[in-house]
Amino acid sequence: MHEPTPEQLETWDRRLVWHAFTQMAEYEPLILERASGCVLVDIDGREYIDGVSSLWCNIHGHRHPKLDAAIRRQLDRVAHVTSLGSSNPTTIKLARRLVDLAPPGLQHVFFSDDGATAVEVAVKMAFQYWRQRDDPRPEKTCYLALGEAYHGDTLGSVSVGGVERFHAMFRPLLFETLRLPTPDPYRTPPGVTPENLLRYHLDQAEQVLAQHHQRIAALVIEPLVQAAAGMIVHPRGYLRGVRELTRRYDVLLIADEVAVGMGRTGKMFACQHEDVSPDLLCLAKGLTGGYLPLAATLTSDEIWRAFLGTYAESKTFFHGHTYGGNPLGAAVALATLEVFEEEQTLARLPEKIARLAEHLQRIGKLPHVGHVRQCGLVAGIELVRDRATKEPYRWEERRGQRVCDHARSEGMLLRPLGNVLVIMPPLAITLEQLDKIAEAVERGIVREC
Ligand SMILES: Cc1ncc(COP(=O)(O)O)c(C=O)c1O
Repeated sequence: MHEPTPEQLETWDRRLVWHAFTQMAEYEPLILERASGCVLVDIDGREYIDGVSSLWCNIHGHRHPKLDAAIRRQLDRVAHVTSLGSSNPTTIKLARRLVDLAPPGLQHVFFSDDGATAVEVAVKMAFQYWRQRDDPRPEKTCYLALGEAYHGDTLGSVSVGGVERFHAMFRPLLFETLRLPTPDPYRTPPGVTPENLLRYHLDQAEQVLAQHHQRIAALVIEPLVQAAAGMIVHPRGYLRGVRELTRRYDVLLIADEVAVGMGRTGKMFACQHEDVSPDLLCLAKGLTGGYLPLAATLTSDEIWRAFLGTYAESKTFFHGHTYGGNPLGAAVALATLEVFEEEQTLARLPEKIARLAEHLQRIGKLPHVGHVRQCGLVAGIELVRDRATKEPYRWEERRGQRVCDHARSEGMLLRPLGNVLVIMPPLAITLEQLDKIAEAVERGIVREC
């Protein structure tokens, strides 16, 4: 086959490739061919700063020499072996590193391949745990999750998810999940003030737990930031409060750190900001530095032990994914963790976080910016028609997309969440690149709103 021309690639991309979360009838190809550091390059040679970490996963930049070399080294040994009944040294070493780094009490690692599967695993493990532990509680069959939660697109993950636009269609297929109100500091219920916001939401959680704990297997939460909901940052103390309540009411806590883990919030894991150890911890995206699909569900010893027995007892976790624990993914994940140390990635973040905060403060004053929020190197800018009433723009107007389209014309690659602009660059972003992203976003808002 001859190398296709750029025009052919565009035609095939439009006709043959079905893109995720994309209306293909309106799709305009953007074909990225190569990258270096935090800059992506399309087939026409145009450069874009990666303002959303290639969908929230890139950490140390693209084509990092150390990460590239780790994959090449692993390729010289083996690209893939199954984790169903066998192992390989690289995956074992990664499990060791993750257990050492994770919040205390998480001592076992189940590998899968994406964020949704990491959550799916956690949800199923929680269910089976209650049936198999010494003092079984088979009536614990439903879940508690947050309004507007997003945990991925497989049906178990969608069941605990709560983003109407994405999930309503599939409701007839889903299992029962109870819902807590989103702890959103911007859009609060009547009578709720910044001072009583935390108390209000913990009271809500307690009411549901008090009434239904007998049948709740687990509470699922995105710690600190509800990413797909629009980068909603929870009031400080909410995660810790929820941890205490789940302990009191004998409900497992599943922390989905798929988006916020691996340094995004300024610490390696978001749970560490509130000294929380969940019963199950889900990691993906940045786990491999944003290079390859690999995910991990970490569990406590208590959960692990409930699955032990002879084969005939049928306590096995009958769940697996062909590429779970893939050695290439594990190799680049190990290298990602090494680069965190060598480049002092976390120690270098405060300066970048502060610079982002400065930009947000300025952008927050624009007439159609209702709210800006930030946690570490994650930011959301909510556009509104009317600042006083918080009236949103109608979603069909695609204001967020229009601002991002403008930013793209200035060489920034961003993807909004409806009316919320997202800035979530690789942790390796430079201050200068951060300035360019924020300034392009600002000009885009002034132009489009
Ligand atoms: C919090 C959270 N959980 C799970 C997922 C799903 O991850 P994946 O797309 O890798 O399946 C996402 C994806 O954005 C996420 O933000």
